[in-house]
Amino acid sequence: MRFTDKVVVVTGAAQGIGAVVARRIAAEGGTLVLADRSELVIEVCAELTASDAPARYFLCDLETYAGAVKLMAYAVAEFGRIDILINNVGGTIWTKPYEHYEEDEIEAEVRRSLFPTLWCCRAVLPHMVERTAGVIVNVSSIATRSINRVPYASSKGGVNALTASLAFEAAPKGIRVVATAPGGTEAPPRKVPRNPNAQSAQEETWYQQIVDQTTESTLFKRYGTLEEQAAPILFMASDDASYITGAVLPVGGGDLG
Ligand SMILES: NC(=O)c1ccc[n+]([C@@H]2O[C@H](COP(=O)([O-])OP(=O)(O)OC[C@H]3O[C@@H](n4cnc5c(N)ncnc54)[C@H](O)[C@@H]3O)[C@@H](O)[C@H]2O)c1
Repeated sequence: MRFTDKVVVVTGAAQGIGAVVARRIAAEGGTLVLADRSELVIEVCAELTASDAPARYFLCDLETYAGAVKLMAYAVAEFGRIDILINNVGGTIWTKPYEHYEEDEIEAEVRRSLFPTLWCCRAVLPHMVERTAGVIVNVSSIATRSINRVPYASSKGGVNALTASLAFEAAPKGIRVVATAPGGTEAPPRKVPRNPNAQSAQEETWYQQIVDQTTESTLFKRYGTLEEQAAPILFMASDDASYITGAVLPVGGGDLG
């Protein structure tokens, strides 16, 4: 019960890693604000409240600073404080060699996989600084060294730099800033697709190259599970990790990213 009396904001909580993190934190006594731009988050929230977990949902677009500010204000208004922020929104939208990316696609990838974390960190900091307490866990990726997703890799490299640099400033103010870097993760088909357009045969081939390279780069020669990604996020968020800050924990079956 590591999250008893902790108010935890989880972004991108409607599905995948974020939803499993939310369920596990609720099972360990946490009070949750589940943020997503998909209304599917309402179902995840209802599931938690049905098992008596204190949980709220908040619909917002975290690719905007205004969305991040409104989310933090809502969490503080509902529960009085934010102890832990888990920045989980992200994910590559396209998979292809870099020379095939269009200008607007590159911008869209950075907006999806770097800006929500930049915005949410900025939006929560005044509150955490005022309380001289708080933990921020950023969900990065081992894909910072990988093929067919350079804009996404660049964004997650940015998340790693943000984690390390903000940790310097935040430590004297009582705040830890850490990250996990998931590797390839088995999950049910996404209800909210990262890219709603059907893949061409060429795009399927490029995607398969990612799967092959990611699997081959692990020592275990397999993808991880959602639970295997959620458990280290909970560890990093909890007081069990009280002497860890500025670190990015690779969770890629031995692929260090
Ligand atoms: N799944 C993997 O194999 C894997 C591997 C490495 C890293 N990661 C990282 O882990 C995190 C979670 O990945 P996942 O596969 O579980 O995610 P996912 O794509 O299954 O779900 C992402 C969630 O974020 C929400 N979202 C997207 N854009 C948003 C926005 N602008 N505002 C608010 N909500 C938004 C979506 O609606 C969705 O519910 C991501 O940061 C991803 O980059 C995942």
